[in-house]
Amino acid sequence: MSDFDPMEAMKKEFESYIIPPSWKDRVWEINEYRKFHEETVKDKKSIEEWWERWANELPWFKKWEKVLDDSNPPFYRWFVGGETNLAYLCTDWQLEQGRKNKVAIIWEGEPVDENNEPKEVRKLTYYDLYRESNRIAYMLREKLGVKKGEILTFYLPMIPELPLYMLAVQRLGAKHSIVFSGFSAEALAIRIIDAGARIVVTADGLYRRGKVLNLKAIVDEAIKICEREGHKVEKVIVVKRIGTDIPWNSERDVWHHELMSDIPKNVKVECERLGSEDFSFILYTSGTTGKPKGVQHSVGGYAVHVYTTMKLIFDIKDEDIFWCTADVGWITGHSYVVYGPLMTGATTLMYEGAPDYPDVDRWASIIERYGVTIFYTAPTAIRMLMRFPEEKYTKHDLSTLRIINSVGEPINPEAWRWYYKVFGRENVVCTSTWWMTETGGIITGHSPGFGKIYPLKPGTNGFPLPGIKMEVFDDEGNPVKPGERGYLVISTPWPGMLMTLFKDPERYIQVYFEKYRKRGWHFYTGDFAMIDHDGYVWVLGRADDVLKIAGHRIGTAEIESAIIKHPAVAEAACVGKSDPIKGEIAIIYVVLKKGYEPSEEMVAELKKHLRATIGPVVASDALIAFVEVLPKTRSGKIMRRLLRAVAEGKPLGDVTTLESEVAVEEAKKAYEIVKRALERT
Ligand code: PRX
Repeated sequence: MSDFDPMEAMKKEFESYIIPPSWKDRVWEINEYRKFHEETVKDKKSIEEWWERWANELPWFKKWEKVLDDSNPPFYRWFVGGETNLAYLCTDWQLEQGRKNKVAIIWEGEPVDENNEPKEVRKLTYYDLYRESNRIAYMLREKLGVKKGEILTFYLPMIPELPLYMLAVQRLGAKHSIVFSGFSAEALAIRIIDAGARIVVTADGLYRRGKVLNLKAIVDEAIKICEREGHKVEKVIVVKRIGTDIPWNSERDVWHHELMSDIPKNVKVECERLGSEDFSFILYTSGTTGKPKGVQHSVGGYAVHVYTTMKLIFDIKDEDIFWCTADVGWITGHSYVVYGPLMTGATTLMYEGAPDYPDVDRWASIIERYGVTIFYTAPTAIRMLMRFPEEKYTKHDLSTLRIINSVGEPINPEAWRWYYKVFGRENVVCTSTWWMTETGGIITGHSPGFGKIYPLKPGTNGFPLPGIKMEVFDDEGNPVKPGERGYLVISTPWPGMLMTLFKDPERYIQVYFEKYRKRGWHFYTGDFAMIDHDGYVWVLGRADDVLKIAGHRIGTAEIESAIIKHPAVAEAACVGKSDPIKGEIAIIYVVLKKGYEPSEEMVAELKKHLRATIGPVVASDALIAFVEVLPKTRSGKIMRRLLRAVAEGKPLGDVTTLESEVAVEEAKKAYEIVKRALERT
């Protein structure tokens, strides 16, 4: 167990000013930048002027009447009265700008030949995207009756059909709810039911680390659960990716290619004119309760935010090859694999498989193969790659890279330095962009798009974007001093912000705005952070019961409610434990029912159960520790602080404040159990 303290490690870097040599003549003096930033958040007018400038770069079917309607906080509405459509921005508008035959998507499949060359590469031009998404939209409308406002659930792997279906539903003014293909049948079912989807789009399977995973079987399982809950899925569209035999229900299931076989090549479906404040998609994310939250995003505000960050944070240019390694099933993939790059007419890269298949240099080989210029990935992946010799990567030509960013969890300074050196040759912009599913797009980071940068610092998240004010508060809502830890809040509305939680506006207010309600309308992020003396933000990790396992966001309550469904489990409590590669893993303390005994087999059985109910992301690294009782206060509250200390192998702290002797003993016992479990791994 390590004594690594992220706060101390980051504090050490407060004064590490790094300027990549190629930027040495293009540097903002920090205070000059700070002043510029402050001007943009001075008042409502400055905020509006800042964002309006970017909105003016996009085409609108109808221009907005009001930039920001803040008459009903926290339900802010952006570019009110304006009309646009994400599909229009990503395809039609690109053709209008002369990008008809520019490659929009480069897709590489996972399987390789005997020389480790990819067996399949597909390149789709903007014209291909335009035509295919029109055809799919036409098919959905004419054959399946999809109309404006309907929500479709996509459970698809990283194949080009996913963005094509996204664009098709946007054309129709329908909405998507994408469920990451690593989620279990149960997680998928909950999301299908909540969205009320009657159509699910999936694939027969996917390749992952050389193996085939049968997605369709998971969908069938999910549909059974939906039926038990009284929700009917009418149609399952299946894209043929693998070609193996799969279970089939001929009344409900239909192949994508068969649905498309008689759709003419050149059908056109007019883009629906959507109100800027209409919604474009929902995406479920985890919170502190067991029930996932349907984060609902707008059309116009979302578009402006994602567009602006493509220009500023990624400095996107026509000749760039842009690669965000995230799965499209997460918000990062929505905004920076699909909508952002396409809206800015870039070439976006999609890779189907694992970063280490057939070897850890797969990503480096892809960067070399296509001359990737902008790269965006997660710290977990960087830490995994770091375990191998640098030559694995540097033997590939990585010299095309000019901006490399990270996202999803804090990047420890050591990983940042490695990434900057090995991938960035110490001469690129390298920043950790902080944001969330709820923010729609990037909120902090360096902005080379200005043509100048303020100095880099290893591990920092940099300044918030202009037009956005962030603060770090103590429990009462007082700003803490520079360098002190507190809760990160966003104090001003921004265009990419979620509109509400789907069908649950009360929860939207409660989760994000209740905490500091007395101080006004501050968006509570749920993160611990500090702001240093220069004004740079440093995010330290979650402050609530949400874990980030390899950058994937999952609530401990979700894990507990999944494990408790197993017939052997009486009670369970889950906490996070820091992990040198994954950032965090789950430790689950389990009390078994009478008649069940702790054993290696029981651990395996519970892990299998977790895999089926929550999915492999959590299950594969979860540690299960059996205890006889959970440490609780007299009022019955589980003492998580204690469990976390136990998990981290840290002193239990001031145990005299604990209310129960038994709890102290149990915690100590649990500590021994976890220690032994860790020693075994
Ligand atoms: O804890 C923060 C962490 O990820 C959380 C949001 O997770 P999710 O909605 O899944 O979105 C992830 C990708 C946008 C945040 O509350 N997080 C995200 N980016 C960073 C980060 N923590 C530190 N540094 C980052 N760059």
